[in-house]
Amino acid sequence: MSDNKNSIYSKSVVFTVVVAVAVIIGSVITAFVPLAMKDMHPKLDNLKPYTALQLAGRDLYQKEGCFNCHTQTVRPLKADVLRYGEYSKAGENYYEHPFLWGSKRTGPDLARIGGKYSDQWHIDHFNNPQAFYPLSNMPKYDWLASKPIDIEQTKRGMDVLGFPYTQEDIEALKSRTQLDAMVAYMQVVGSAVERKNYVAVLPEDYENAQNPFKDDAASAEKGRVLYEANCFFCHGVNGEGTNIASGITDLVDEYTSDGQIFVDVANGLPGMMPEHINIMTKNDIWDLVSYCRMLAAKQQASN
Ligand code: HEC
Ligand code: HEC
Repeated sequence: MSDNKNSIYSKSVVFTVVVAVAVIIGSVITAFVPLAMKDMHPKLDNLKPYTALQLAGRDLYQKEGCFNCHTQTVRPLKADVLRYGEYSKAGENYYEHPFLWGSKRTGPDLARIGGKYSDQWHIDHFNNPQAFYPLSNMPKYDWLASKPIDIEQTKRGMDVLGFPYTQEDIEALKSRTQLDAMVAYMQVVGSAVERKNYVAVLPEDYENAQNPFKDDAASAEKGRVLYEANCFFCHGVNGEGTNIASGITDLVDEYTSDGQIFVDVANGLPGMMPEHINIMTKNDIWDLVSYCRMLAAKQQASN
């Protein structure tokens, strides 16, 4: 402690002013200067501004409050990355005004939804999520298909955000519905980042493998249970196919090797079938192969 009456610590008003000035200078340098620096706003090389249709979908995502149930940020945590894929990058957010990161995961994260499923999957899922997951609490958005896009608002959005578009792009919105816009938006989210499966099987290790449970009825029965939870909404309850995917019986014949089925079901087929090795064990997948074989054999027998 200093007893010196001239010390700044003894002059409360001067001290307050000096502290205030120091804090202001500090804030401006650490907060506002970076706002104006270009390298603080990174942009991924293949990130593109939204098209008019995608922006209309993004506006709906905000309007419908999808962010109340879904996040759009994969955190750099092991569990997040294994489940959803590559963690979120600063450079993905260049065109995000406002950010739609969200903070609540009632449903799964959507940062890597683009290219995970086909358009038809999204259309059917929006129409009736419970047809896919009976306990899903996601509302049905079946009315989106009968609503037109708010073209004026989309055009204003494109202007304000400085996204390039042509008059034809705007005209084209007249023949599209809100459902088309939502699906177009879903398919572009996260698509600037390369899709990688963090849990995957190496095709060369399995392509020529035999099913260890070949012709095992108990394995096929376990496979049926897994099928009815994970596969039926794309391939049909009895493997007969849907408008999303072909029937198991059309996909699997005597020339399809067990190893090939294993690899495709495990790793998925980009844009068509999601990977399954991140949510089940290898034995589970062999059980599914057993069940697919059984479905195919049944079909064969009834022909
Ligand atoms: C009340 C919460 C809730 C709301 C609101 C909601 N969802 Fe969902 N959503 C879920 C749940 C739970 C799931 C997981 C089960 C399922 O697929 O239905 C899900 C799943 C999804 C999936 C599939 C994700 C995947 O990887 O399989 C997509 C896509 C999706 N929602 C998009 C949307 C969009 C777009 C909106 C707004 C129009 C929305 N959701 C509104 C709860 C919600
Ligand atoms: C999101 C929809 C979807 C889901 C879920 C899905 N699949 Fe697929 N699957 C497809 C599509 C699409 C194809 C590509 C073939 C086609 O339908 O034309 C495919 C292909 C296949 C094939 C053929 C691969 C080959 O090697 O010939 C098999 C077998 C298969 N799926 C089994 C399954 C099983 C078992 C499950 C559940 C664990 C499953 N699928 C879940 C959409 C899906």
